[in-house]
Amino acid sequence: MITLGIETSCDETAVALFDSSKGLVGEAVFSQIELHSEYGGVIPELASRDHCQKIIHIFQKALGDISSSKIDQIAYTAGPGLLGTLLIGENFAQGLAVALKKPLIPVNHLEGHLMAPFLSGDKLDFPFLTLLVSGGHSLIIDVKGLNNYEILGQSRDDAVGEAFDKVAKLIGLGYPGGPEIEKMAKKGDPKKFKFPQPMLHSNNYDFSFSGLKTAVLYAVQDLDEINETVQSDIAASFQYAATEVLIKKIAKALEDTGRKGIVLAGGVAANKLLRQKISTLQQALDIKVLYPPIAHCTDNAAMIAYLGSLKADEASFRLSSFARPRWPLGKE
Ligand code: KG4
Ligand code: ZN
Repeated sequence: MITLGIETSCDETAVALFDSSKGLVGEAVFSQIELHSEYGGVIPELASRDHCQKIIHIFQKALGDISSSKIDQIAYTAGPGLLGTLLIGENFAQGLAVALKKPLIPVNHLEGHLMAPFLSGDKLDFPFLTLLVSGGHSLIIDVKGLNNYEILGQSRDDAVGEAFDKVAKLIGLGYPGGPEIEKMAKKGDPKKFKFPQPMLHSNNYDFSFSGLKTAVLYAVQDLDEINETVQSDIAASFQYAATEVLIKKIAKALEDTGRKGIVLAGGVAANKLLRQKISTLQQALDIKVLYPPIAHCTDNAAMIAYLGSLKADEASFRLSSFARPRWPLGKE
């Protein structure tokens, strides 16, 4: 069975084909990073227009020499995300569904990230914990089975990726901030600035990153000039503080739940310091850790196609709109 996956929840136009017996058989992604970089963040209107212009070409590229008649069902991201961009993916999916006479499966983008590590055939028994860290979310989820998720903790304000992006902007680095901070941090001293690690000692698994971002703002305001040395030290000190909180909260969740496996997902999962700290935890606690390859950590349609393949029983010919900007994981 071949499932077509479509992803347009933010600034990546992505289409992929997942074959239940062969795995991923086609994939194409176009990232709008350049389009939004001069604004330091995603401009929803520009994002929507660009998805409209690119989606048909990305679809053709993903198909390659596979005939569209081979598609059995169409899964698409229906939320959470930017409403305008979601509607473009949904509309395209519906048009294809009518033309090809194939059923649709609207899926949750976060659930796609959760399942991304299994795309390549990696195995991890349920239950396990997922640390889902992206530009829109910072979540610790107890994954008890497919469709059975309990959110143990989440950010009360900014998502961690958003904090990377905002801090990068504050110190004059480009967009998206995560990779820029990571690059700059290599030359910096992580102990130079003592940034707070918010909610570290709270008795729950929640995060807060806006205080950390504000601490960077105050540090920047106290400086006479921002040269490369200062940029590197701030980047390293911020990255250190942000990853410490993530690690300590996931370690607490592992200890309290007794789970033996972690999945690391979302764009921030590409961060090497975070991966290093997780591997130290892995050795100390003797747990199993799965990371999707970097291309499947950030937004992509392979995870959507794969998730659709697991949800074939939810496929239907209904053409009503399911697109919604907010869609908490595990809710209908
Ligand atoms: O999952 P994703 O591609 O899109 C969302 O669903 O948000 O995540 C994008 C976020 C951005 O905030 C970006 O700065 C961050 O992931 N990111 C990173 C790294 N690569 C991407 N953050 C830290 N270190 C990285 N290497
Ligand atoms: Zn995402």
